[in-house]
Amino acid sequence: MDRLDKILVSQGIAGRKEARELIKKGEVLVNGEPVKKPEYKFEPENCDITVKGQGLVYRKNIYIMLNKPSGVVSAVKDNLDTTVIDILPEEYRRKGLFPAGRLDKDTEGLLIITDDGEFAHKILSPKNHVEKRYIAELDKEIDGNVIKNFENGIVFADGTKCMPAKLKIIPESQNKKGLVTICEGKFHQVKKMFSVCGINVVHLKRISIGNLYLDSNLPIGSCKLMSKLDIESIYIGKLH
Ligand code: URA
Repeated sequence: MDRLDKILVSQGIAGRKEARELIKKGEVLVNGEPVKKPEYKFEPENCDITVKGQGLVYRKNIYIMLNKPSGVVSAVKDNLDTTVIDILPEEYRRKGLFPAGRLDKDTEGLLIITDDGEFAHKILSPKNHVEKRYIAELDKEIDGNVIKNFENGIVFADGTKCMPAKLKIIPESQNKKGLVTICEGKFHQVKKMFSVCGINVVHLKRISIGNLYLDSNLPIGSCKLMSKLDIESIYIGKLH
């Protein structure tokens, strides 16, 4: 059971104030009847909700695509730094949101923020082979040896072995930009993999998770609600 105003906010329909106004104006119908009390409590899964004549497809969980900017940390709360949750617009905020995986403070690009733990586990577990793609700008040129090392599975100085990874040189980059594909998310993984090969990453951006690509119309620091299709597309064309 949840309050009507909170349900509208949780579905990204409106901010708290706007949701209350919509309800009081009689713009929100529950099972065909206008409900004018924002505090009205009910089970949204079992009801038809209409807002300004438009049916609302209630989703229990929320999935947000964020184009993460550099300078914010992939955490829920932090005493020193701004977090990816802090930069979400008010209408997307709800209890239990967390980033599904971590990008370093200086890494940009695709980060999914959700309140669905099962989903997060599914896309993050290396066992599920969901590929994550990054564009890495480097201080030195990539050569065939680096590509081979990635293919064979890089071993870090502490003996940790990475799963085989793909590395492609991005054309017209003087061999200094690579497209890296990995299926796991070890701490600073891409930077450490290049570092083993004597190369520093000067800029890192994640562009995809599975077959879901960062929306090119999403400015850095902005986010959008993901559609059902976006979520499903993660698993399309998954390579094992
Ligand atoms: N690998 C890294 O080194 N950093 C990230 O943020 C993501 C992958």
